[in-house]
Amino acid sequence: VTAGGSKPILRRARAADWPDVHELLDQADALHARLAPDYFHAGARPEAEWRRLLSDDAACALIAESPRPGGGAAAPGVVIGVVAGRIYETPPDPTMVARRRCHVDTLVVDATHRRRGTGRALLDEIGAWARARGAAELLLTTWAGNAEADGFYDRLGYRTLSTVRTRKL
Ligand SMILES: CC(C)(COP(=O)(O)OP(=O)(O)OC[C@H]1O[C@@H](n2cnc3c(N)ncnc32)[C@H](O)[C@@H]1OP(=O)(O)O)[C@@H](O)C(=O)NCCC(=O)NCCS
Repeated sequence: VTAGGSKPILRRARAADWPDVHELLDQADALHARLAPDYFHAGARPEAEWRRLLSDDAACALIAESPRPGGGAAAPGVVIGVVAGRIYETPPDPTMVARRRCHVDTLVVDATHRRRGTGRALLDEIGAWARARGAAELLLTTWAGNAEADGFYDRLGYRTLSTVRTRKL
């Protein structure tokens, strides 16, 4: 079985995944810095943020691994994707429908491993985690110009809930 042809293995993230996760986040950060340079710059992600996420009971971070080519069953896999999300309750606002939701704020699949079902598998898995905690839906933000994400979320049946408009002063 090659890394390219096999299904990813999903597991909960660990603190020791940080170097691999950092590389994946760099890919997303570089993309966002390109799409929205007034909002993002690539680079400085602190490890403390990762540790905080892992210790947050309302949050979930999952890793996708592909079996290491040539490695045996016991060989550690290659980290190829990460998803992270957090459960949020509706703020106490009488005009809002009270509903528990899961916000996915991170999803990255390594550029050399895309279009093989890993992103879908990661969202399915965090969706199952969120559903088990009473969440009614997953939601996430995409930035204008992210054609890859738009194609992906369209394919997975995510609809656009709102748009944010801006104008320079
Ligand atoms: C968006 C992203 C996570 C998708 O991951 P992926 O592992 O390539 O996606 P999958 O292979 O699971 O694709 C699931 C479905 O979406 C489709 N899809 C994926 N990328 C697509 C694209 N660029 N255009 C059209 N459809 C696409 C796939 O064909 C697949 O459809 P199928 O199941 O019917 O074959 C990945 O491109 C990525 O990490 N991008 C950079 C970071 C980013 O933009 N993250 C999300 C926004 S914050």
